[in-house]
Amino acid sequence: MALSISSKQLPRTFLKPSATRRQIDSRFPSTSAIIISRNYLVSSVSPCRFTTYTKPQRQQFRNFTQTANKMATNNAAWIKEAKAHPFVVEPAPVWTPEANEVLVKNHAVAINPVDGSLQAAGWWPLDYPTMLGQDVSGVIAAVGPGVIQFKVGDCVVGHALGMATKRRQDNAFQEYTILQINMTTLLPDNIPFEKAAVLPLALSTAACALYQDTHLKLQLPAVPPQKPTGKTLVVWGGSSAVGSNAIQLAVNSGYEVIATASPKNFDYVKKLGASQVFDYSSATIQDDLINALKNKTIAGALDCIGGAPQGILQQVVANSEGVKAVASTKRGWPEPPTGVTMYPVFGTTLSGNFVGKAIYNDFLPSALKAGTFVPAPEPRIVGQGLEKIQEAVDLVKKGVSATKLVVTL
Ligand SMILES: NC(=O)c1ccc[n+]([C@@H]2O[C@H](COP(=O)([O-])OP(=O)(O)OC[C@H]3O[C@@H](n4cnc5c(N)ncnc54)[C@H](OP(=O)(O)O)[C@@H]3O)[C@@H](O)[C@H]2O)c1
Repeated sequence: MALSISSKQLPRTFLKPSATRRQIDSRFPSTSAIIISRNYLVSSVSPCRFTTYTKPQRQQFRNFTQTANKMATNNAAWIKEAKAHPFVVEPAPVWTPEANEVLVKNHAVAINPVDGSLQAAGWWPLDYPTMLGQDVSGVIAAVGPGVIQFKVGDCVVGHALGMATKRRQDNAFQEYTILQINMTTLLPDNIPFEKAAVLPLALSTAACALYQDTHLKLQLPAVPPQKPTGKTLVVWGGSSAVGSNAIQLAVNSGYEVIATASPKNFDYVKKLGASQVFDYSSATIQDDLINALKNKTIAGALDCIGGAPQGILQQVVANSEGVKAVASTKRGWPEPPTGVTMYPVFGTTLSGNFVGKAIYNDFLPSALKAGTFVPAPEPRIVGQGLEKIQEAVDLVKKGVSATKLVVTL
């Protein structure tokens, strides 16, 4: 299939003004020649804009053309209309990154509970036909104008913001996705794509709850971890994807964490850094938590699950010293006792404030490299290819435990 690429679709890092231009050598004749020789039709490319390159830029350009060759098509798992099931795998446009954006060739995508509920219930306004998905890891295929933090060929993980932006290019369930740079993390060599893909939405949701000015306002995480603050965060649902990230973030921020989980996941949750874990299905769970928090100062609580735990956590923070606030990933809580504040969390809001950059650019790359933050929970690979996404979404709807379902592409 022939694809028409205009100068707009080329990464702007290659569009250099000609003031200090140097003629391109014969091994690197011109943009148009390279692209045409790879069966791409080039329109509106002005060769005079491609005459000056530093050595690294040339390498970048070669990488881009190699990647571009594979970019002849993009395919997506589409939902053609509200509540349609299954996804239909069909071509999608090849997207162009704008300022502060990168285009990623996805190698792994992960499934979140919201994907199944959006598909089945269509409760969120979406512009059909649309795609879903928020978690991607892969290789940068192009960078937008002015982007210097990332380059073509970088291995990254990032949070695809399509649910918030309503732009099709910002969804994960396709071969190429646009990511905002403040929601993109450079992956160290020791983290494979399928492990990294478990991170984005769960990490973002935990970070929104813990750090935003509108939420618990915890001290940011650091590498090495911040010195102990002497304060304790309560995490309900410590083995969930959001909980797994919240525990690690809080510990790296210098907070003690007391969590709940099923007994089979106690060891897992402790390995993530929780000092104590309690069985959430125990009849005495409220008192267990209140007793564990005696003589401690709480930094607030995070409910990762919703429903009955919200009322229990309200009582726990009401009966403890410190910040009497509960951030929750689900709405619909009972009226809180006097003095207790409830915060609804929406896992994409960090993209518009200081928290996105603080987590994805400043903290995560070095924490992953140092091993002080690990991708969790463990991925379970459902299969390869966009055709496997429906199966994975349906499996998540049945429930998972300390696991994240991943599809490789
Ligand atoms: N508002 C937002 O922006 C936002 C963003 C992301 C997620 N969410 C919502 O947050 C929830 C969690 O998402 P997720 O991706 O983290 O889910 P998940 O990993 O799929 O959740 C599975 C985990 O939930 C735990 N769990 C189930 N019932 C529990 C209960 N009553 N008490 C404590 N733990 C319980 C299980 O623990 P055990 O196996 O140990 O029993 C299991 O490990 C979902 O409802 C999701 O839709 C909201």
